[in-house]
Amino acid sequence: MSSSKNSGLRINNLHVAYQKGQLALGEMNLTLPEHGIYTVIGPSGSGKSTLLRAIAGLLPGYEGELLFNGRSVHDKETLIGLVPQNYGLLPWKTVRDNIRIAMKIARPGGGSSNRQEQDGKILHWLESMGIAQLAGRFPLSLSGGQQQRVAIARAFAILPTILLLDEPFSALDALTREGLQQIFIDNWQAHPATTLFVTHDVEEAILLGQKIIVMLPGQQEPPEILDNSAVFAMKHGDKRESDEYFEQSKRIRKVMMEKW
Ligand SMILES: Nc1ncnc2c1ncn2[C@@H]1O[C@H](COP(=O)(O)OP(=O)(O)OP(=O)(O)O)[C@@H](O)[C@H]1O
Ligand SMILES: [Mg+2]
Repeated sequence: MSSSKNSGLRINNLHVAYQKGQLALGEMNLTLPEHGIYTVIGPSGSGKSTLLRAIAGLLPGYEGELLFNGRSVHDKETLIGLVPQNYGLLPWKTVRDNIRIAMKIARPGGGSSNRQEQDGKILHWLESMGIAQLAGRFPLSLSGGQQQRVAIARAFAILPTILLLDEPFSALDALTREGLQQIFIDNWQAHPATTLFVTHDVEEAILLGQKIIVMLPGQQEPPEILDNSAVFAMKHGDKRESDEYFEQSKRIRKVMMEKW
């Protein structure tokens, strides 16, 4: 058995209420191994964004425990990258500067990198998301899907320990989305942050997660957690056509039919 020191992200007995007596997130218990990736699906209002906000340290309070390798996730050593549902870009900064600022906040000393090196890194992450040509633009001059890609590039650029993505591909058309899922997996494999990926797309949940956390409505029941390792082990391009994918999709739809 692994010790708590390298047990990854542990969520113990988490409950969140924005207003007293009104649960936004019912009881949640989860262990996500370090360098693992789980997807989260659930009906609107089931607490998916709240879960990510709690981990990211954006809530004034919650009940329960959030640990990374045995210490609070909010310790300074644990760098958390968040792609919020509304992208969270600074409108008065260019795409390039949005990423630069995030890198600066993540590593205030900047390590040893000078401006030129930094620009190289920024360009690398923008290129990886297919949007290098947008570096000098301002967020509000971009489409929703382009803004989402900037937000994803920014999250990767800080090389976070924990990566939290809140429906990051929701504004993309099906084809662009498929392309970016592949790019995302490639990036994640090169820098396997411990990742929670929220989506409302069943297909995407199956294509990207080692496990799938299916949130239930009403904040009364804990989520169902489905093992997805059989699909995850396949080559990305083969997943969609596989029997395992089909079976998993049936399983999730059954939970949705019965409980959502
Ligand atoms: N800032 C807030 N103040 C009060 N209640 C909130 C706040 N944010 C969310 N809630 C409530 O908490 C519950 C969970 O919301 P949350 O945004 O986490 O759901 P979600 O699963 O992300 O939904 P969606 O799929 O629509 O994004 C909802 O009932 C919502 O109305
Ligand atoms: Mg949400």
